[in-house]
Amino acid sequence: MRSVLEPVELPTDHPGFSDPVYRARRSAIAASAASSRDGDPIADVVYTPEEDDVWRTVSAELSRLHGSYAVEAYRQGAARLELPRDRVPQLREVDARVRALTRFHIRPVPGLVPTRVFYGALAERRFLSTQYVRHHSVPFYTPEPDIIHEIIGHANMLASPELADLYERAGKASLRAGPDEALGFFSRVFWFTLEFGVAWERGELRAYGAGLLSSYGEIQVFRDAEIRPFDIEAMGTLAYDITRYQPVLFAAESFEAVQRDLGGFFDTFKGA
Ligand SMILES: [Fe+2]
Repeated sequence: MRSVLEPVELPTDHPGFSDPVYRARRSAIAASAASSRDGDPIADVVYTPEEDDVWRTVSAELSRLHGSYAVEAYRQGAARLELPRDRVPQLREVDARVRALTRFHIRPVPGLVPTRVFYGALAERRFLSTQYVRHHSVPFYTPEPDIIHEIIGHANMLASPELADLYERAGKASLRAGPDEALGFFSRVFWFTLEFGVAWERGELRAYGAGLLSSYGEIQVFRDAEIRPFDIEAMGTLAYDITRYQPVLFAAESFEAVQRDLGGFFDTFKGA
C-alpha cells in the first residue's frame, strides 16, 4: 500500500497520465484514504463539478442499461441503496446505508491493495473501496477500479442480504487459500463470477458481475462473448486479460444456481 506522502504513479497509457491536475487530484484523494483508520468516520472528499459530471453521465447511462442487462437481484439491491444520480456519493453515506441494510462495511483505500488483503476484508464484511473518479476525457472507460466501479458495481450488490452473505463466504474461502496457486484458482473463480458472471433469467442472459455492471461498453456486448456453462474447475483454471472485453464468460442456469453453486464452492474450498 502507498504511504501518505507518495504521489500516485499512473502508467503512460493512462488517460490522466499527461494531466498534472488529475495526477495531483489522485494523490490528494489517495492521501486522504491512506490516513483513514478503522473505526474513524470516513473523511469526505470534496468532488469537483467535473467529477460530479462524470458520475452523473455514467450513472444515468448505466441505470438505463441495467434494466435490460442486469439480474433482478442486482436491480433490487440498487433500488434499496438508492445511490445519488447527480453527484459522486461519499463513501461515508454509502457505508452507512449498506451497513443498515446488510451489516456490510465500506472502507476507503488509496488504490489497489494486495489480493489477500482485499479478499480477507470480505470475510469481516468489509469492502475496500477506492474514492477517485476516472479521467473526465473518457467517462465511459477506466483502466482500474474507480469509485464508479466499486459503488455502482459492488455496493449495489452488497445492499442485498443474500449477496452480501455470498461476498462474506468468498472472503472466508480466501482465508483458507494456502499457496499462491490456490489463491490464484480462487481469484479466477471470483473474476468469472462476482466480477464478470452472467446468468440466465427468463430466457435472457443477464449480468451479476460488478465488472460488467459498471462497464458502459461491455455490458452492451457481453452476450456476444463465447458463453460456456458454469463450471468452477473451468473458471479456476482459465487465464484472463483485464485490459480487454472478456472473450469467454460462464453462464449459470439461473441466479439461484449461482448462489447455490458458487456459495457451495466458497464454503467447501480447501485452499490447498
Ligand atoms: Fe471489482
